[in-house]
Amino acid sequence: MLNPDIYAQRRCRLQAKMLHGIAILPNAPEQRRNGDADFPYRFDSSFHYLCGFGEPESVLVLIAGDAPLSILFCREKDSEREIWHGYRSGPDAAQEKFGFDAAYPIARLDEKLAELMGNQSTLFYPLGADAAWDQRILKIRGEVAAKARSGIRAPNELRDTRALLAEMRLFKDLHELNIMRRAAAISTSAHRRAMQFTRAGQFEYQVEAELLHEFCRHGARDPAYPSIVAGGGNACVLHYVDNNARLRDGDLLLIDAGCELEGYASDITRTYPVNGKFNTAQKDVYEIVLAAQTAAISAAMPGNSWDAPHSAALRVLAQGFIDLKLCHGTLDGVLESESYKRYYMHRTGHWLGMDVHDVGEYKTDEQWRPLQPGMVMTVEPGCYIRPADDVPLALWNIGIRIEDDVVILEGGNEVLTDAAPKTIAKIEELMRRE
Ligand code: GLY
Ligand code: MN
Ligand code: MN
Repeated sequence: MLNPDIYAQRRCRLQAKMLHGIAILPNAPEQRRNGDADFPYRFDSSFHYLCGFGEPESVLVLIAGDAPLSILFCREKDSEREIWHGYRSGPDAAQEKFGFDAAYPIARLDEKLAELMGNQSTLFYPLGADAAWDQRILKIRGEVAAKARSGIRAPNELRDTRALLAEMRLFKDLHELNIMRRAAAISTSAHRRAMQFTRAGQFEYQVEAELLHEFCRHGARDPAYPSIVAGGGNACVLHYVDNNARLRDGDLLLIDAGCELEGYASDITRTYPVNGKFNTAQKDVYEIVLAAQTAAISAAMPGNSWDAPHSAALRVLAQGFIDLKLCHGTLDGVLESESYKRYYMHRTGHWLGMDVHDVGEYKTDEQWRPLQPGMVMTVEPGCYIRPADDVPLALWNIGIRIEDDVVILEGGNEVLTDAAPKTIAKIEELMRRE
């Protein structure tokens, strides 16, 4: 059930951070796929965070200061178009349902903006994000400036709400955490289903179909990002999305997939044997990545720096690579020379929220920022071993990543995605075939 107060409170908080001025926040455009077909519509995350309103062709305008206003521009009702394309709220119903101070047809945007911009000192607008919008907004500002002789001033300071919104969105409120818990639960059941379904001879996209089926049947219509379903050496391609190879007995399968629910992402990776049993070499590498992930999750604690989980994972991985004879020298030497990067070339996580790589600074004043309650991050170490003469043959084409979603809480953390099995024993048990 939509609770408009949540969104109204967020708009108030943003207005308080702006202090004064006018902010223009356009929703995302519809995107043409080909011919007459569009991609499924996805709203702009920050717009939705502030409005809860999901229709395209909409713009939020906020006025901050002594007389704050929050104004929506949206499509008018249109019985003919609604027959073809579906329901539109129209400004009147949208104002009432979503709690805006005013709402106008989107066709009146330019005219009303020229009026609203007058005598505002600061314009908050994300210049550079979209060339067509830039032109339109600067033209309107120019028209306001041309009225100087009538005593109307145009904003002479340009700022941006993106940084303010990023800081707000970085800290998830209870409403958001509860959606993210549900998104995570759906994605864990999809990973469990994939493990139970997988057989040698299937195509990667057939396993992907199981994931999508599970997302959809629990109410999550879309994945939060293109699913990676990568058998064998395909797992060593970090952004593999072809998902069109046949799965082979004896190979591992890496799945990086998570649903989006009510605008919030989940992001899980599990790696397991196509035939349900890890071989010795796979076990050796898997245990190292799992130990690195366990160490990183233990370091994802309030007060620790953003980098602490990454450093904890790196130490375990680098030592593991030495033990496997993939890297040579001392632990400190391998960390210092970064020779581990041949097998582990990405960082150990990112913020997670409405966007899978969510907004929010990782450093403040040049320092990694401390982890604080309400932040949500992924913890996703991995190891990717491509064939090479100096690499033991048994390790060729092993690509492993283990990824969970972690909320920082007062005094600890909560792993949202624990229900997807990740120890060798639990995976083999779930995949056991009579
Ligand atoms: N699935 C995207 C990521 O793991 O960062
Ligand atoms: Mn991730
Ligand atoms: Mn992922």
